Amino acid sequence: MRFRTDALLATALLTATQATQATANIISHRSDSLDACGQINQRFKNYNGSTALEIPGELGLECLHSMPFESERAVKFVKEYRKWLLFQSDLELLKNPPAGYQMPPTDLIGILDNIEKKAADNDYKSQYEFDSAIQKMLASAFDGHLNIQLCSSTIMVFSNNVPLISISTNGTTIPEVYTITDAKGLQTHKDKVSPIVSINGEDVESYLGKISLGDNSQDYDALYNAVFPSNPYSLDVDGGYSFKELGLFSESQVWTGAYHTLHFANGSSQVVDTVVNVKHWEWKSGKDLYEALCLPLGSTSSKRSVKASSKVTPKIVDKLAPKISKRSQVPAPKGYPKPSSRTSDNSALTFFPEDSPLEDTAVLAIPNFEPEDIESFYNVTRDFVKTAAKKNKKKVIIDLQGNGGGIIAAGWNTFRLFFPDQPLYSANRFRATEGVNFMGEALSRLPVKDEEGSILSWKGSVKPDQKEGFDSWGDLFGPNEFLGMNSSSLFAVNLTLLSYPDYNYGMPVSGYGEMPLDPKTQYFDPEDIILITDGICASTCTIFTELMKGQGVRTIAFGGRPQVGPMQGMGGIKGSMVYDISDLASDLKQAKELANSSALLSDEDLEKWDKYVPTPLDDWSYTVDSARVNIINAFGPTNDHVPRQYIYEAAECRRFFTYDNFLQQETLWQDAANAMFHDGECVEGSTNATGSLYATQTKYSGRQKLLAMILEHTRE
Ligand SMILES: *[C@@H]1O[C@H](CO)[C@@H](O)[C@H](O)[C@H]1NC(C)=O
Ligand SMILES: *[C@@H]1O[C@H](CO)[C@@H](O)[C@H](O)[C@H]1NC(C)=O
Ligand SMILES: *[C@@H]1O[C@H](CO)[C@@H](O)[C@H](O)[C@H]1NC(C)=O
Ligand SMILES: *[C@@H]1O[C@H](CO)[C@@H](O)[C@H](O)[C@H]1NC(C)=O
Ligand SMILES: *[C@@H]1O[C@H](CO)[C@@H](O)[C@H](O)[C@H]1NC(C)=O
Ligand SMILES: *[C@@H]1O[C@H](CO)[C@@H](O)[C@H](O)[C@H]1NC(C)=O
Ligand SMILES: *[C@@H]1O[C@H](CO)[C@@H](O)[C@H](O)[C@H]1NC(C)=O
Ligand SMILES: *[C@@H]1O[C@H](CO)[C@@H](O)[C@H](O)[C@H]1NC(C)=O
Repeated sequence: MRFRTDALLATALLTATQATQATANIISHRSDSLDACGQINQRFKNYNGSTALEIPGELGLECLHSMPFESERAVKFVKEYRKWLLFQSDLELLKNPPAGYQMPPTDLIGILDNIEKKAADNDYKSQYEFDSAIQKMLASAFDGHLNIQLCSSTIMVFSNNVPLISISTNGTTIPEVYTITDAKGLQTHKDKVSPIVSINGEDVESYLGKISLGDNSQDYDALYNAVFPSNPYSLDVDGGYSFKELGLFSESQVWTGAYHTLHFANGSSQVVDTVVNVKHWEWKSGKDLYEALCLPLGSTSSKRSVKASSKVTPKIVDKLAPKISKRSQVPAPKGYPKPSSRTSDNSALTFFPEDSPLEDTAVLAIPNFEPEDIESFYNVTRDFVKTAAKKNKKKVIIDLQGNGGGIIAAGWNTFRLFFPDQPLYSANRFRATEGVNFMGEALSRLPVKDEEGSILSWKGSVKPDQKEGFDSWGDLFGPNEFLGMNSSSLFAVNLTLLSYPDYNYGMPVSGYGEMPLDPKTQYFDPEDIILITDGICASTCTIFTELMKGQGVRTIAFGGRPQVGPMQGMGGIKGSMVYDISDLASDLKQAKELANSSALLSDEDLEKWDKYVPTPLDDWSYTVDSARVNIINAFGPTNDHVPRQYIYEAAECRRFFTYDNFLQQETLWQDAANAMFHDGECVEGSTNATGSLYATQTKYSGRQKLLAMILEHTRE
């Protein structure tokens, strides 16, 4: 398996209340014989256009709501899924988060229990309503590593063709929201265009704030940025299409209503319809759709035999693009100057600008750490550092906007390019549960070679100082109780193992094993390197950023809610590994096979197995494409109790986006360089804040802020 931490950047979720309201609002599109899905089928058959067929969003929603619901099947699913959810690293902390966590608490297992009860009572009207309840539950954790692809919730994307942007006049004034068309007009006929002040009668910031909750950062500013389009999203594309290219306001798997009424400051308004673009449709009814997409292949109750190909052909319309394995040679990106070099999938791009104020600065853009061609990523980033030094560049900008992570070793290696002498500090814990304990025990009886490849390997793990190993599985497992949760001992991957070519970390790391230390010299001082984020920085991006920050490298965050004050640079999940249930299955398949032949597992063990370890996805009662959890919490060198995602870390500076920043990435680098290297401005109150390198000011948030205000008030 690959060790990776990419956060799925968009989860599908529709809140149950929204769904119910939507159903109530639906104007009936029914003709006598066809249900909504059948009508889509008919329209699609009659459609001869070259682009996708556009249907009203409500018709799409009504079709989803017509998928049948089977109580027994759903209960069976929940029982299996609960076993898997218990592998999530921080269930107790999500329920009772330490101060510093920005998002509301959530009790995932409690919610799942209620869902099971409701399913047993046959209280869901459709598969879609049931799936939406599961998605809503997971969304409440705001964890890009915690997600599941359920059959009904990724079928449709609700969209409109009026993307919005939030722009500031000069990067430090409070931004306002415009339609993209108006933002363009603003440059030529300023007096004729107005910002949006409210949507559907609700204050624009508050309305878009709610929409932003459909994304999965653990920070409100990062979430807010996901509402709008941005250049780095369109970098992560397969042949020009990326799910979030237009931003969540315009492309969402969450139903947000049949239309939006935008109210402008000048008193006028505009109505924007929600549509679904259908690229493929072969289903004649809700039942048909359910049987084809939800029932597993070979399911006995499946009335019609589903062709195997229907599983691999795009199910869809417009689906959340899964992380793509073949992204070969996408065009050079729009909005960017011509790169000096790049990987063919645009996962790394280098620039050596010549104009002021960047004439002494080199720029490396890394929109994800998930390169298709590992060697090319390795080379492009390595050669960047050396070329920058050769060109006599004094400063470096690393643009990480939109970076949802990827292969951990790609982050580690990129750090080593800048700081060849510095160790790769990592410290982790998993949640110490019965399932994990059982798996770890079972795996530890396998021969060393097989077992090293698992994340639950005590033989491949060491203490964070890399000097001491563990004596047994029990030694690694613990448990240690902190903050009301049992966790494993603090551990790191034994970095010596990076030397083994078949020990698959996904990428070699400079100076380990057969990889020569290259470059050998540290070319840039930490104060001459800055990181740019839009808050959307998750998993491997946070591993890289924390390592750089540990050396004194500063971060500037762009965008966020229209308010002054600090913003976090890393708004995404800081967990150090995502674990897919298929990884678990392959980890265990071998163990189980060996168990039969060599008595590695007793009968009692096998009984426990069924109780605590979920069956492989193929045996689940619904078709599930993937189910992932954040399996490991990461800790910083100074706090081995509170996982990193619960600690607030302001960036060293914040700026808002200007329209130019949106159009031309180079202007954003100029603004960042001015603010960080020269005498440019940061947003008021955004420097020296809590968790930044130079923290002098305390930042209160949410409930704490309210309490602080009340206290202050009562004192007066
Ligand atoms: C496509 O549909 C349009 C409108 O229904 C019709 O006018 C046109 O002739 C059709 N074209 C073809 C090639 O069938
Ligand atoms: C940005 O605009 C605000 C308001 O007009 C002004 O106070 C501030 O000085 C401007 N900043 C710069 C760098 O021009
Ligand atoms: C008011 O603002 C909107 C949005 O920019 C614009 O489309 C409209 O033309 C403006 N109306 C007037 C009367 O200027
Ligand atoms: C990477 O660089 C090495 C030299 O260090 C070279 O041998 C190799 O061919 C390069 N590979 C790619 C894919 O660029
Ligand atoms: C790390 O792994 C190497 C290679 O297997 C081994 O020699 C070394 O003892 C391990 N380190 C620790 C601290 O256990
Ligand atoms: C932690 O584990 C111990 C030993 O298994 C157990 O007694 C204790 O109740 C557990 N604590 C929590 C919070 O689960
Ligand atoms: C183990 O052997 C039993 C009895 O032969 C068989 O039913 C079971 O499927 C086997 N399990 C695995 C995982 O091979
Ligand atoms: C903020 O931190 C910087 C860097 O240490 C320092 O120069 C500056 O004086 C600090 N500002 C405040 C208001 O503390």
